[in-house]
Order: sequence, then C-alpha cells, then structure tokens
Amino acid sequence: MNLANIRNFSIVAHIDHGKSTIADRIMLHAGAVTEREFHNQLLDSMDLERERGITIKASAVTMYVNYKGEKYMLNLIDTPGHVDFSYEVSRALTACEGALLVVDSAQGVEAQTVANAYLAINEDLEIIPVLNKIDLPAAMPETVIEELGNILGIGQEECIYVSAKSGKGVDDLIGAIIERLPAPEDHINDKLQAMVFDSHFDEYRGVICYLRVVSGSIKEGQKISFMSCGHSYTVTELGKFTPKMDKRKELGCGEVGYMIANIKSLSDVRVGDTITSLDEPAEEPLPGYEPPMQMVFSDFYPAQSSDYPKMKAAFERLALNDSSFTFFPQNSPALGFGFRCGFLGLLHMEIVQERLERENDIEVIQTSPSVSYEVLSTSGEIFKVDSPSQLPEKSEIEEFREPFVKLEIIMPKDYIGTVMQLAEQRRCVVGKTEYLGSNRVMMQFKAPLAEIVYDFYDILKGATRGYATMDYELLGFEKSDLVKIDILVNKVEVDALSTIVHRDSAETRGRKMITRLRQAIPRQQFEVPLQVAVGGKVIARETIKAYRKDVTSKLYGGDITRKMKVLKKQKEGKKRMKSVASVQIPQEAFKSVLKSG
Ligand code: GTP
Repeated sequence: MNLANIRNFSIVAHIDHGKSTIADRIMLHAGAVTEREFHNQLLDSMDLERERGITIKASAVTMYVNYKGEKYMLNLIDTPGHVDFSYEVSRALTACEGALLVVDSAQGVEAQTVANAYLAINEDLEIIPVLNKIDLPAAMPETVIEELGNILGIGQEECIYVSAKSGKGVDDLIGAIIERLPAPEDHINDKLQAMVFDSHFDEYRGVICYLRVVSGSIKEGQKISFMSCGHSYTVTELGKFTPKMDKRKELGCGEVGYMIANIKSLSDVRVGDTITSLDEPAEEPLPGYEPPMQMVFSDFYPAQSSDYPKMKAAFERLALNDSSFTFFPQNSPALGFGFRCGFLGLLHMEIVQERLERENDIEVIQTSPSVSYEVLSTSGEIFKVDSPSQLPEKSEIEEFREPFVKLEIIMPKDYIGTVMQLAEQRRCVVGKTEYLGSNRVMMQFKAPLAEIVYDFYDILKGATRGYATMDYELLGFEKSDLVKIDILVNKVEVDALSTIVHRDSAETRGRKMITRLRQAIPRQQFEVPLQVAVGGKVIARETIKAYRKDVTSKLYGGDITRKMKVLKKQKEGKKRMKSVASVQIPQEAFKSVLKSG
C-alpha cells in the first residue's frame, strides 16, 4: 500500500478508562470484527482468542477503512498497560507515528494518563486526546479539558468526544487518525530495518515476532539476522493480524505485522532488537535497544521438596513465554532447593506467581520481594546485587547503591497532608506539586524503589479512600546508607532471612522479624535465642523459652541433694542439646516472617 495511506497508532490510557472498548469500536467500524464479537470485548478476552486460534493477544491489528474516497491501512498497536513494562510500552510506541490518549470524562486525568502521555511525547508521537464515556451522567468534560491543559498543555480544540459504549464520536476519531497523524517516513529504498516491539510463544508455531518495518521490506524465505543478539534465521511466514492471522508474502516499509522463523525460544528474541537482511545488512541497528532489567527479586521454594523438578519444569515453560522473567537455582539450608526469580516489577511478579499456581498446582513458599542493588567495589567495579548472599565483604565495598524512582501521585487536594506524611515515612523526597484543576493535585517525589515496591500502593489507596493514583519510573541507582541484617536462630545465621535495608530501619525491621519468629516457632526443650545482627554486631534479641520439664516432680520427700543432682543433670542435658541440636523451624514460621515485608 501507498505509504501516504498508512497510519500506525497506539491507544494509551489509565486503567479502566476505556482503551479496549475504543479499540473494539474502531475495529467494528473498520469491519474487522462483527457486532457480536464487539460485545464479547474481543481484544481483552484471552479465552475467546484461544478459541479462535489467534493465540494469546494480538499486539497489533491491521484494519482497512475508506475515508473520503480513499482506502487507508490502520495499524493499531497494543501497549502493555503497566509501569513495570514501560520499556515494552516505549518500544510499542516507537512503532507508531501517533497515539490516542484516552481519558474517562467522569474520572479525569489520572497518574497513568500522565505517565503514558509523557512516554508518547518522548517518542515524538502526535497525540490525539480522546474524552471517553461522555454518555455518563457524571461526565465533566470541561474539568477534564482544564486538567489536560494544565498538566500536558493540551488545548480544547484538539480533543475528540467519544462514547465507546454507544459508538458516538467514533467516526470523528477515525477522521482525526487519518487527518492528523503523519504517514510513516519513506525509507523504501534503504536496507531492511524492522523493529521487534513484542513477541509471544505459540505452542504449535514457535515464536511469533511482532515487527514494524522501518526501512526496506521483509520477504518470505528471506535470511534475516537480529542485530543485537546476532542470531540468524530464515523467514517461514509473514502476515498481519486482521485480527485473525492473515498471511502475506512481504511486509513493506512503514507496515506492521508478524514474522515466524522457526525460533524455538523467546529468549532468542529481544524486544527492541532490529531485524535486518543477512546478505545485505543495514549498517546500524535502530536506536534505543535495551536488555530487560529485572528490578524485583523473590525466592520461590516448593512447599513439598519432592515438587522441585515440577517447579523447575514450570519455570522453564514460563520463561519460554516471557523473556523478561529470570530464574536461578538457589539452595537454602533452611528451605531446601528452590529458585531465585527476577521480575521487571511487582505486577510482573504477581502475573508469574499466579500462572505458576494456576497452571501447575504447586504449593509455593515465596520470600518477600526485594529490589536489586548495586555495589561499587574498592577496585572500581560495579556489580548488581540481587540477593544478600551476593554481597562482598564490607572492606571491599566502596559504595552501596539502591534504585530510585520518580513517583507521581494524583489526588484530591484534601489528601496532600496525608500523602506527605506517608511519603516521609518511606524516605521519599517531595519535588514538584502541580494543580490539575481547582480540586486535584499531582505531587512528584523522588523515592527509593524498595520503599514503594511492596505495599505502598495499597496503603496509599487506603489512606486516600481510593482516590489517589500513582505511577513511577526508574531514575537510576544512587549511593545510600544500606546494611545487611542477619537473623540468627540459636546463634546460627539463617541465610534465607537475611535482608538488605536502610540503616535507619534496620532495628525496627529486624525486631519485627524476630518477634514474628518468636510467635511462630513452638517452644523447644531448650532456650532458643533469636538475634538480629548488623555486620556481626547483635542489635536486637528475643528468646523462645524452653519447656521446663519438671523432672523433680516424682521425687517426693525432702531429699534435697538428690533433687539438686537431677536438676544439674537436666541443665547439662539442655546445654548439650543447645550445642548440638538445630532448632526445628516450622515452614509456617518462615512464611509469616518472609511474607510480611
Ligand atoms: P484495562 O484493559 O483494564 O486497562 O481497561 P481499559 O482501559 O481497556 O477499559 P475497558 O475498555 O475495559 O473499559 C472499562 C469499563 O468502562 C468497561 O466496563 C467498559 O464497558 C466501560 N466503558 C468503556 N467505554 C465506555 C463509554 O464510553 N461509556 C460508558 N458508560 N462505559 C464505558
């Protein structure tokens, strides 16, 4: 198709503002789906898609529409809707020339509206603001327009009013897509460069790569190579999702589609990588490739150690479908064999965890998530520390660094005080505060990722009666006063319980852990000290009292010397046990300590 008649775009929105419904409406308008399919919420329904054999989720749908007597190809590229996947979002956006920024006109601008708008602006996309749900009685388009103006500099004249529910305004929206969004740049005569913006694994076909052809064209049977990882393949199938898989012999410059090339594992394909011709390669890859960065780590142990092989197989399968998830064998004297797993963020972790449980029926003991740290060694090397056990000796550490994020919270102004207080408790430093309108504000903070990754969002929601929304993006690693705390049970360090925390919270955190441990470990026949140590120095202690077997109860009568003898023996017995016996810690105890963050 003529380049001038191609439009590549994404839809970005805060969760629930109507992204999927608008996508379906556009597809309905273009005849890509029927009225019945529309009502089944096509793009969102995994089961439905499986039934129709389209595999999991079409990340790009090609539609054709007639507009003012001409035929246009519209490629709608889907973006993952969460901050954990912001790199993937940015790659999907670079595959486009424009983005629809959808805002629920009853809810107004929310944290992810702003975060997504920035991502699109950073990729130099043309933005079409869409006020959705104008059919709702609570719709307040004027307020939303004011907010868009204040925060993003968007003017009223740019906004399109839509009800994705009734279909009102969808014609105007399609008109705006064609009139306002630029066509792809003309690089028809250059060497092949195609960007991979997503990929998924299909049991029958292997890896399906989604790509945007930026220059040249790609053909069936062609030998291609991935420029960052260096692997080469022969293209066995090309096509587009319309939304069913629709084969093509060639994908031309500016087009979007899928490629199958007998690729066996998702780890062979990197989002952001550039595909070129093996025989006539482009000089350079497209800019912006970054390897996935795991920011959150957690250990998974099977509750039944006999489930270890089953768990290993399950993780291997999961990794096949998800190239940003990593796992390494881990052996803890306390919990046995398990895996240390790396995730892009907390939501990513929850997705993997749910799939592990739902699809594999394995009972799992999971340690509380921790972030990844960085150490600058005295010899000048920088390395990542994903687990306290990887920390070098103190004398070898020049600088200990933790990840910081830019945190944005949008809330009604009455909650400023509450949110400030919460942020302060979490070592957040307040930055800009901007009014969206007369009633709502956006506050920015610089926050340590470790402080917000676990339960911050739930606490924020609770403290603001559900009104606040938040989003964050990684800023980088910075020096911080961090320490490793060790937990000693009966004077023995339990590696699975070691954790890295800020020095100021070391004692509180350590105390919390040993208090929970004390409650969860049953009394033994001897006294069990529980200690918290930082750098070998004990900073807190609790004791689990022993059962005191009353061995003298049988000795009635007044033979005091005999009584003393027996008591002495018992004491020695206790000592012996103390020095030889390790404490039996029930797994439940670990769960309660590890899960509580
Ligand atoms: P996520 O996929 O969860 O991010 O949500 P989304 O942004 O894709 O929103 P979705 O399209 O699933 O819509 C969220 C809810 O709003 C659904 O219950 C829709 O039926 C409803 N909705 C979407 N558009 C409209 C609209 O124009 N009017 C009304 N009244 N409801 C709408």
